Amino acid sequence: MFTSEHAHSLNSVPPRYSDRINHLLSKMHLVEKVGQLSQVMGNNSEELEQDVRQGLVGSVINEVDVNTLAKLQHIATHQSRLGIPLLVGRDVIHGFKTIFPIPLGQAASWDPELVKKAAKIAGKEASFVGINWTFAPMIDISRDPRWGRIAESFGEDPVLSSIMGVAMVEGFQGDNFQNPSGIAACAKHFVGYGASESGRDYCTTNIPENELRNIYFPPFKAAADAGVATFMSSFSDLDGLPASGNKWLMDSILRKEWNYQGFVVSDWESIAQLQIHGLTESPEHSALTAFDAGIDMEMVSTTYRQNLATLLENKQLSEHEIDQSVLRILHLKEKLGLFDIDYPIEDGQSSDARKQAFYANEDLDVAKQLALKSCVLLQNKNRTLPLNSEALNAIGLIGPLADDGYEQLGTWIFDGEEEASIPLKQALENELSRSVTLNYAKGLQNTRTDNIDLVDDAIKVAQSSDVVILCLGEESFLSGEAHCRAELDLPGKQHWLIEQIAATGKPIVLVIMAGRPLTLEPILNMVDSVLYAWHPGTMGGPAIADLILGESSPSGKLPVTFPRKVGQIPIYYNQKHTGKPATEEQCIHMDDVPERSPQTSLGMAATHLDTHFSPLYEFGFGLSYGEFEYTHLVLDKHSYAPGESINVKVTIKNVGRYDAEEVIQLYIRDLVGSVTRPVKELKQFKRVLICAGKEAVIYFKLEQSELAFYNRNMQLEVEAGTFHVWVSGSSKSNLTTEFIVTKP
Ligand code: BGC
Repeated sequence: MFTSEHAHSLNSVPPRYSDRINHLLSKMHLVEKVGQLSQVMGNNSEELEQDVRQGLVGSVINEVDVNTLAKLQHIATHQSRLGIPLLVGRDVIHGFKTIFPIPLGQAASWDPELVKKAAKIAGKEASFVGINWTFAPMIDISRDPRWGRIAESFGEDPVLSSIMGVAMVEGFQGDNFQNPSGIAACAKHFVGYGASESGRDYCTTNIPENELRNIYFPPFKAAADAGVATFMSSFSDLDGLPASGNKWLMDSILRKEWNYQGFVVSDWESIAQLQIHGLTESPEHSALTAFDAGIDMEMVSTTYRQNLATLLENKQLSEHEIDQSVLRILHLKEKLGLFDIDYPIEDGQSSDARKQAFYANEDLDVAKQLALKSCVLLQNKNRTLPLNSEALNAIGLIGPLADDGYEQLGTWIFDGEEEASIPLKQALENELSRSVTLNYAKGLQNTRTDNIDLVDDAIKVAQSSDVVILCLGEESFLSGEAHCRAELDLPGKQHWLIEQIAATGKPIVLVIMAGRPLTLEPILNMVDSVLYAWHPGTMGGPAIADLILGESSPSGKLPVTFPRKVGQIPIYYNQKHTGKPATEEQCIHMDDVPERSPQTSLGMAATHLDTHFSPLYEFGFGLSYGEFEYTHLVLDKHSYAPGESINVKVTIKNVGRYDAEEVIQLYIRDLVGSVTRPVKELKQFKRVLICAGKEAVIYFKLEQSELAFYNRNMQLEVEAGTFHVWVSGSSKSNLTTEFIVTKP
């Protein structure tokens, strides 16, 4: 869907800078030019005001006070020599005030339209205080749930991440910034950050070029083609060259191959960090390396400010190169309409009036819809869910996350507010009829404590209830930047708490809020249903309550594979076949191996001896209250000439008793390639409502460009040969057929 030849590329047309911008540039002193390339921490100090007045600052970050921002913009536009407004940057990652599910949860919705709406709302709310640039979307492919930043990603798949990334860019920016409350987006972190060794943040990455091109680049290429205003360089070291000093990435790929016309900002002090990496020997060397690589703006560190003038004097770089970076930045300011705003100094009254526009009812409704669609039903023994509240006298609600408006918001919610957030307890109290009693106990003080003082009360609650809803997982601090984990079991005493509650014999519905996939295998046999809610945001409680009580059916699908054990990581669905693929016949468990077995007798396959080779839950998986039967997968032809599109038809019947939406996924496998191909690749998907007892006939049109991959010569090509195709409700399916693409 997003290949280089076919995408409509908004960014690839070289901009013709306006007369205003060219004229401004012609009047700029060098120090003002370097100022445009510098982003500094925003604050209310006289020192910053003075720097802005002198034109030494192009952008501020992390200031959200509406009056301070208004004052700074006023100074920039009315009191500096050239009157250039500021870019005001902030991490608006999954909402500003109204918080939507974490991006990994948003990806689980497989609903790009809703993701776009959410980003539009987030941008609108942020723009009310004067923010005009967000550092989102994060479109790093993430195959390692130990990595805390998987929470911020759209998961492991290049196509899903591309579609979600583009949806966010379009939501934030509007149609070429025509939306007045649109803000600039930033595709980050270019590139490969998600492959940090052992899932530790900021660690080394080693990714072969072919894998970069086929797996890690596509979401960035898609964002560039969709017109994302800016790119951010990653902190990480890629094959020995940290991204912020990597000319091949920033120049050869981004500028030359993709013809990207927006600007590139470094990550936080990542230019200064080139020296810490051991790539450069001084701040001056760092500035030269980063600037030469193609980083236009420096975030927070000051190597450009300190050194670009000297580097120019020494002829190590040219003023023309500096001008190009300045032009890109001024061009964005102009596109955002920043030159056309008057920037009066804000007064308290008008800023209060603006703030009243936060949490609009219709925006909260979008937050609820997205939370609802992002929840994934992983297990539903005996159809425990949905609860029939009419038939119940008492429901037990237990767990540290059941009544905590803050923790359900998740990571990266600088501006989110606990008071606005509705926890599950409050939502159930609102929704349950008076005839049902809701018994509540916290069970544990938080998700990671070892203190079990509260458990006795929880057991009493379970004993006096007909069914128990356990709300467990990870508090928000346990995922996000620099918050990586080496173990992925439920932390603290939660496993033990489940054991105690299970011992009461009551049916258990486990709701998990977490920033990543957890290793749930050890607890699955103790609970009946598992609803995975990620960190669902402001409206998490009402969304989960609706699902539990059957107002809606769960319809989220996993955007990332759930391992059985940490040792399986990285485990992802689009793996290679290998020369000795794991199969049921070939795989053995060490418990079944006789003593003194010879080395080569058994299990010569790509697997572990101490766990099954499959994941716990595969990519794309998610149950529903509906029951979907997929049949009659047919293609319009068997053999396709080069360029012909492949028309796929499938029938899906909801044989269950509930109307429900299903995410229908189309996968392919290219059986033979000049480089080996993944065992399955998602190509398209559709979210469709199918009422109980009804059948839907679904059509997909697969373009041959979607079969293209970077071959051994790093060329994007479709290779003739046989392909398998599957259409199903997850990446595991037997409903398959095949087709041939003939040689030209
Ligand atoms: C993160 C970026 C973020 C930046 C600004 C960095 O530490 O890696 O994702 O946008 O800070 O807050």
